[in-house]
Amino acid sequence: MTSLSFVQESTLFDFFTDLHRHPETAKEEFRTTEKVRSLLSAHGVRLLDTGLPTGLIAQIGGHRPGPVLALRCDMDALPVAEDSGVPYASEEKGKMHACGHDFHTTAVLGAALLLKEREDALHGTVKVLFQPGEEINYGAEVFLATGLLEDVREYYAIHTCPELENGTLGIRPGPVMAAPDRFSVTLRGRGAHGAQPQNALDPMPAMAALIVGMQTVVSRRMNPFAPAVVSVTHAEAGRTWNVIPDTAFLEGTVRTMTPADRDLAEESLRQMVLHTAASYGCEADFRYLRQSAPLINDEALARFAAETARGLGFAVRPQDDTMIGEDFAIYLERRPGCFIRVGTGGGWPLHHPKFHVDPAALLPTARYLAVLIEKRLSSLSAPEGKG
Ligand code: NI
Repeated sequence: MTSLSFVQESTLFDFFTDLHRHPETAKEEFRTTEKVRSLLSAHGVRLLDTGLPTGLIAQIGGHRPGPVLALRCDMDALPVAEDSGVPYASEEKGKMHACGHDFHTTAVLGAALLLKEREDALHGTVKVLFQPGEEINYGAEVFLATGLLEDVREYYAIHTCPELENGTLGIRPGPVMAAPDRFSVTLRGRGAHGAQPQNALDPMPAMAALIVGMQTVVSRRMNPFAPAVVSVTHAEAGRTWNVIPDTAFLEGTVRTMTPADRDLAEESLRQMVLHTAASYGCEADFRYLRQSAPLINDEALARFAAETARGLGFAVRPQDDTMIGEDFAIYLERRPGCFIRVGTGGGWPLHHPKFHVDPAALLPTARYLAVLIEKRLSSLSAPEGKG
C-alpha cells in the first residue's frame, strides 16, 4: 500500500470509538449502517442494493478481469452492560460491543477504502460485507438470500482475540469453531399427589436421569479426540412440594466440530431421550435445532493468509479451537474461505462486561486485509496459478 489519503490511525480510531459509544444489537444496526454508508459513499465506493433494513454490501474493483472475493465483517453489539473502564465506553444502557464487532466493522471499512484507492490495480472484484445480526444467526442467511453473493469464489473474515496481542494473528486450517446447536426435551407423564407415586408417571426422575445421562453421549459415544460439548442449561418441572407434576422441560446446547460428529450427537441424544423417557413410563418430545455449521477453514487459503501475514511482519500462531459458534460458517458451507483471529489484547474474554480491544490493532488489520485481498486476486488471475 502506498500513500494513505484517508485511512490513518486517528481516523480509524475516531470511527471505532464512535461505534463503541453507540452499540446497536442485532437487526437494529441502523446508525452503524448509516455511518458506514456515508463514509463509503463519500469515497465513491459502489453500494449494492440488498433490500435489507440494516447491513451493507459494497463492491470494489472489476476494472481488470478476475474472480470475486468477499471480505466480511459483522456489526451487531450485545445486550451486556459495559464495565470496561475505557474512556469511550457505551452510552447506550445495557448494550455493549462486547464481542469486538465495532473493531471488525472499522478494520474492514479501512480495508475497503484502501482497496478503493488501489481499485485500478485489482485483478477482479471484492464484495465487502457489513453484515447485521451475527449474534442471532441472522445476517449470513439473509445476505446469501439476497442473491448478491452467487459469484463469490472465496470468503474472508476476522474476529478479535483477547488471548493474542496486537501484532499476532491466529490462523489455522480445518475446523476452528463449533456448530452451536440447540435442543429441548419435553417429558410427559402423569401427575399425582406427592405421597402417592403409585398414581403417577413421574417425569422428575426421567429428567434427572437425562441431565446426567446426556453427558455420556460425549464420554461414551463420541471419539475422545474429537471435541464435543453437551450442556443442559435450563430445567423446569413442578410448582410445589407435595404434587408430582405432569411434565418436565429441559433445554441446552450441543457443540461439535465436524458434520459427522454433529449427526452422531443428535442421533445419540434422540435415542437416549426417547428410551430414557419410556423407561420411566413417560413420553418425550425431542427437538434439535441446527444453527450454523462448524466453521472449517480451507487448507490452502489458511496457508495463503498466514504467509501474507508473515510477509507484513505479523506473528502467526495456530488459531485456538473454540466451541463458540460463528455464522461466517454459513458462507463457508457454500464456498471455501478463511476466518482469521486478530490479536487485540485486553485479556477479558469475548462477551464479558470488561472486554475491550487495543485500538492500535485497527490500522495494521485494515492494511493486512487489503493486502490479502489484492494479493489473492493477483494470484488467482496469474496464468500459472491458483495460489
Ligand atoms: Ni463475535
